[in-house]
Amino acid sequence: MKYERTSITPQEIDRQLELCHRIADRLGADGRRPLAMVDTYGCQQNEADSEKLRGYLAEMGCGFTQDEFEADIIVVNTCAVREHAEMRVLGNVGALNHTKKAKPDQIIAVCGCMVQQEHMAEKIRKSYPIVDLVFGPHEIWRFPELLERVLERHRRVFATEKNSGVVAEGIPRQRDGKVKAWLSVMYGCNNFCTYCVVPYVRGRERSRLPEEVIAEAEELVAAGYRDITLLGQNVNSYGKDLGIDVDFADLIRRINDIPGDFLIRFMTSHPKDATEKLFRTMAECEKCARHIHLPVQSGSNRVLRAMNRSYTREKYLEEIALARSLMPDLVLTTDIIVGFPGETEEEFAETLSLCEEVRFDAMFTFIYSKRVGTPAASMPDPYTREEKQRRFDALTELSNRISAEKHGAYVGTRQRVLVDGETGREEYNLSARTNGGRLVHLKGDPGLVGQFVTAEITSGNTWALYGKAEEDG
Ligand code: 5AD
Ligand code: SF4
Repeated sequence: MKYERTSITPQEIDRQLELCHRIADRLGADGRRPLAMVDTYGCQQNEADSEKLRGYLAEMGCGFTQDEFEADIIVVNTCAVREHAEMRVLGNVGALNHTKKAKPDQIIAVCGCMVQQEHMAEKIRKSYPIVDLVFGPHEIWRFPELLERVLERHRRVFATEKNSGVVAEGIPRQRDGKVKAWLSVMYGCNNFCTYCVVPYVRGRERSRLPEEVIAEAEELVAAGYRDITLLGQNVNSYGKDLGIDVDFADLIRRINDIPGDFLIRFMTSHPKDATEKLFRTMAECEKCARHIHLPVQSGSNRVLRAMNRSYTREKYLEEIALARSLMPDLVLTTDIIVGFPGETEEEFAETLSLCEEVRFDAMFTFIYSKRVGTPAASMPDPYTREEKQRRFDALTELSNRISAEKHGAYVGTRQRVLVDGETGREEYNLSARTNGGRLVHLKGDPGLVGQFVTAEITSGNTWALYGKAEEDG
């Protein structure tokens, strides 16, 4: 495949960093430390992007706040996957009228997938005059330059031109935690599932070079991170665009070779190209978590075809059977869309039966949301919202029941878990994850945060496990 992407040069990133320092002088001119707030919607990829925005803001001398009245700079990093997320963003951006009134110099930026859609950028331009800066996911690397333009010229800046995608290395990052880290291995998506807006807003698939990914993984391990999640819209396509002989399974193996006690997770995988090699690699790599998130979307072959998913129910079930034969303790999670245009009651029943058959540990279920410009948006959609809601409720009930049963089976077992934080609650003061990624509420010493411990599981419900921590060696 042709090697087609725009790589941002290190010199360009250096220039952005210089701009950060100029902005720092300007913002700090009155001797007061400026405060920034970054509000993130949507997926982990967006969380990872927000860490870069915070990295730049820290270079600008900013401290961080969660209070929008206190913030000098507010960045809202948006999602476009479903209408609900967009409505929340618009509501919350609208509410910033109050903060801007109280603090007229406040800078409000809206970035990310939602504003990469032309109609949404237009809506902000026309109806949200308080927003000073609008930029899409391809412009994050030059956030300092865009912000400087707003500060210099005292006028609104929009940077949302169409773009098939860039790769920028060397952007500073301010990571959210000290135990778990996101590591993007690729950006964009080429699959064009007919309901999905992602390929339009995040551009074509671009893999980071393996040596960049490995170097970042090594840094994370050296910094003490214990849980590294490799991110991409479709990680199984990793490397295909690079024209070199490395695929996602090879990448996992190379990260697994980094010395240290840590876990490798990844998401998201597309069933059409989850290979036997991937499952074998997972099984053979002791640091690779026994969890795969494999969105099935529907149990009906007709619907899967209409979604352009390129696999059948049978192929999906075969894949799961193979993965489970290689990893009997595999935790399996999925995404499902109900009410895709034209999905009949019988077709929905096929989704229910698939879920009964697979028994997912957890399911993320969504009602289909019409996205401007996608092929599904012009498909006949005769079923009512109430009908779709009824199906959604039935699926949720099934999913909750199965998750509760699966969690129930952990009771009485001892699990090696990674303690990832404190909950602030008295009874179960720690939160942790099993190797397969299930949430565990624990009683234990706060000093255990960041450590692997053995937990005795005492109860479980739909959402979580509960237990008691013992120190591990
Ligand atoms: N409507 C509802 N759900 C969607 N998803 C993606 N696009 C849509 C849409 N238009 C879901 C898919 C995907 C998850 C991230 O979001 O299930 O796997
Ligand atoms: Fe969207 Fe399909 Fe790409 Fe996932 S694989 S981001 S659902 S187009």
